[in-house]
Amino acid sequence: MRPEAFADLQPLLPQDWSVSDGRMLMGGVAVEDLAREYGTPLYIYDEETIRHAVKDVLQALEPLNASVSYAAKACSTLAVLQILADEGLRLDAVSLGEMEMGLRAGFEPGRIHLHGNCKTDGELETAVRLGIRAVVLDNLEEIERLESICAIAGKEMPVMLRLSLPFEAETHPAVQTAGLGSKFGFLHGQEEEREALRRLGQSRQLRLIGLHTHMGSQITDAGIYARALTALAEMAHSLALSGVEIGEINLGGGWAVPYVPSAARLCPEQVAAAITGALPQTRSWTLGVELGRALVARAGVAVYRIGSIKRRGDRRLIAVDGGMGDNPRPALYGSPYTAISVEHTLAPDVGPSDIVGRYCESGDVLARSVLLPEVTAGELLVVPVSGAYQLSMASSYNCVPVPAVVLVRSGGSRLVASRYSSQDPVARAPTRVPD
Ligand code: LLP
Repeated sequence: MRPEAFADLQPLLPQDWSVSDGRMLMGGVAVEDLAREYGTPLYIYDEETIRHAVKDVLQALEPLNASVSYAAKACSTLAVLQILADEGLRLDAVSLGEMEMGLRAGFEPGRIHLHGNCKTDGELETAVRLGIRAVVLDNLEEIERLESICAIAGKEMPVMLRLSLPFEAETHPAVQTAGLGSKFGFLHGQEEEREALRRLGQSRQLRLIGLHTHMGSQITDAGIYARALTALAEMAHSLALSGVEIGEINLGGGWAVPYVPSAARLCPEQVAAAITGALPQTRSWTLGVELGRALVARAGVAVYRIGSIKRRGDRRLIAVDGGMGDNPRPALYGSPYTAISVEHTLAPDVGPSDIVGRYCESGDVLARSVLLPEVTAGELLVVPVSGAYQLSMASSYNCVPVPAVVLVRSGGSRLVASRYSSQDPVARAPTRVPD
């Protein structure tokens, strides 16, 4: 890799990443040593990078006095949740499992809110029993169900309304969550929104504390947050006129991060500036955001061992011991990635390579047209920006276990999720299927 290319890669790499005496270090620990100790594929998270990302966001939003929640779906590894709980964030959980992991990580119920467009009774009952901060209501049926669960339990529940605004974010259609065709929330300004407000107005158990929207993921245009805020602030204003005071407007998450050099990032300062411009002169509510990717993506790298190298036309196909099982994102969204040689980080590139996975599908390509130096089977590749939505969406396809996770900090490493997880189909199966 040329020194210029190295500089281009910097925004993709964890805070504490360096090459010293030809050895790639993360959190002060040699990646090669971690791969040998814990096996590959391996996910390494740098604690410092997560804490740094949180500080960046909190600093930019400080003048707005906004609260920040972490969307657990981006990475629900307990150690990562613990760091975010320790940083004082709130938690967006979307299932019983995420609530449970959040509690174990140290998020008190009062810091957790529950999302979901088809929550189970069990999830709603647990939310009520725990007394979480709020249930984010998605549909009319849920209002009825939550109401009766609260009535049986003799408890009240604070709720927010998830609203689908009538404009779409420019992003991959699979991660666009606003617009008139969205499956999420109540269509803003439509009858279903009015009906929800009517029912909440009559409810004895449910108390409306906030308005919520999440417009999608990998959004690069800060302007859409200003438009959303304008719409929701108007709604809060007209609710106030009818005697309903809203405590919070939450703008969801979706701030884009770059996966390859020169791709766009939506910086906290850009969002802060855009929403500052859209804030009304006076307001009785506080602002909230709910971030996943922007807090954890850069902190994680995936480490793979090269199994084979084939020539196909003008390029090399480099096969590695992971792929769509631990990272389905390229296959699902065509997401671009890059890769770096661990053993020859600073050696000159020798033409484009495709990094292909070990799974039995031709679509299992982790990264295309990556410039890499001469590498050989048995060596290691690192794929940066692997901290969000990789392991949390990983599967054990082909009966291959989900990789282990290691957390690094100040020269030390800790195994925080073992390789043979409960998702391992071989471990989960009975010894023999009974006759
Ligand atoms: N709030 C809600 C209600 C959400 O549904 C999400 C993400 C977030 C916040 C956090 O969004 P973020 O800041 O991470 O963009 N699997 C896809 C991403 C799906 C996002 C789902 N919802 C991917 O790998 O790109």
